[in-house]
Amino acid sequence: MTDKPAFYATTPIYYVNDVPHIGHAYTTLAVDVLARFKRLDGFDVMFLTGTDEHGQKVEKSAEKAGVDPQAFCDRVSARFRDLAVAMNFSNDQFIRTTEERHKKAVQHLWRELLAKGFIYEDKYAGWYSVRDEAFYAESELQKGADGEKLAPTGAPVEWVEEPSYFFKLSAFGDKLLEFYEANPDFVMPKSRLNEVISFVKGGLEDLSISRTTFNWGVPVPDVPGHIMYVWIDALTNYLTAVGYPDTDAAAYKKFWPADVHMVGKDILRFHAVYWPAFLMAADLPLPRRVFAHGWWTNEGQKISKSLGNVIDPFELIESYGLDPVRFFLLREVPFGNDGDFSRKNFVLRCNADLANGIGNLSQRTLSMIHKNCDEQVPAPGDFTSEDNDLLEKAKQTLEAMREHLDKQAFHLAFEALIQLVTAADGYISVQAPWTLKKTDPERMKTVLYVVAETIRQIAILAQPIMPQSMDKLLDQMGVTERGFEMIGEAGRLQPGTAIPKPEGVFPRLELPAEEGAA
Ligand code: MSP
Repeated sequence: MTDKPAFYATTPIYYVNDVPHIGHAYTTLAVDVLARFKRLDGFDVMFLTGTDEHGQKVEKSAEKAGVDPQAFCDRVSARFRDLAVAMNFSNDQFIRTTEERHKKAVQHLWRELLAKGFIYEDKYAGWYSVRDEAFYAESELQKGADGEKLAPTGAPVEWVEEPSYFFKLSAFGDKLLEFYEANPDFVMPKSRLNEVISFVKGGLEDLSISRTTFNWGVPVPDVPGHIMYVWIDALTNYLTAVGYPDTDAAAYKKFWPADVHMVGKDILRFHAVYWPAFLMAADLPLPRRVFAHGWWTNEGQKISKSLGNVIDPFELIESYGLDPVRFFLLREVPFGNDGDFSRKNFVLRCNADLANGIGNLSQRTLSMIHKNCDEQVPAPGDFTSEDNDLLEKAKQTLEAMREHLDKQAFHLAFEALIQLVTAADGYISVQAPWTLKKTDPERMKTVLYVVAETIRQIAILAQPIMPQSMDKLLDQMGVTERGFEMIGEAGRLQPGTAIPKPEGVFPRLELPAEEGAA
């Protein structure tokens, strides 16, 4: 391990009751971009993702598939690893809650909570939703079309009565409120923090944390017949991955507490209320941030298996190429808001920003250099103030991206990058190197150098979102040093570097056929 500063970011671990879809790809993509950005920016990064394999929901799905739960988990978990490969995710670990190291960690945490007096035995009688793997108070329920009781998420609920161990969540209301007050950026976006605060202010009930009516879970230590509630099991994965219960482990010391837990808005309560309460109870440091992103709909409709409109990330990559998919998901919608996926918007956005933007800028510049400057980076003359302005803008873009990504504002970070592309386009139009070719070939070389140098920096800055295409572009320009320390003067293109005939990095995408059109 190096002495570089640490950055630890996590995704939720995904239930293996179902194969991966666009929502899962989205959450992990967001963390992938942060992780890649931080690595290039000189951090030692731990990027964790994985699968959540216990609980009634998974047990029932295995039963339905007619396979033993472990074999079922092995099969579906592998699909999530396939997704990580297909999406080019750079996760450092892929954790599974059925791993021994994890069972050991959760059982240790349980013993800690018990020893500190925060766990007691009682009987649970109340509403439970298997789909949400969550308990609900009567007052939270709503009525369905036939008058049946439903969870606030619309999921069916059942009445459950069983012996259970409880966690004294009710003891943490004030402590949590004080913590939110002292750490106003703990939950982002801000509107979500308000939601969390009002939930806690509404009064916290003790939380049932063991189950006795099924088997698929981590056994409660020393109490036969009880398995742990899937959420206490699942949340602890963030600790397991850095070596807990060994708090002297190098990874634990370096990376805990996590910098960001990235989650969807549906699972914010578990991360922003239960999880910090468990950690407070165990005297462990709390994560620095929980970011709750929004949900995707598909062409205006809620994505659901029963509607048959689930977006398959593997199919999207197959149709449009990987990097446009990565770019679109984080560029299109202000991160934190809900977003609607439409193929038409996908194609329009990618053509505007990628094919006509970065793609066209690099293609025409590198072609001109290849044709007019002996197939190599030209030596520039003195820079004018316009030249310096554009070169300076790249440095400012890095600073802007840093600032935006520290707040997980991906859309703003990419907007800053696109503005740099637009500035380079504007510079070329004004400088008109095609005219200079006849009137002032030396100045043409300087202009092409300045644009190429800007493209080098755009490509370095765009690596976190589009790693494959930017690698290809940087290869074409003979750039080998690709970290952010190369932004600005440090990494200037060397005159004389070979520039082969460029190959396009972003082909134009075809609009989908109009509905009803022949
Ligand atoms: N297993 C729990 C998490 C435990 S973390 C300690 C879980 N798993 S999940 O597979 O159901 O969901 C994982 C993530 O996918 C959530 O962050 C959820 O918000 C996200 N998405 C699922 N559908 C989605 C969309 N349609 N759009 C965006 N993200 C969505 O919850």
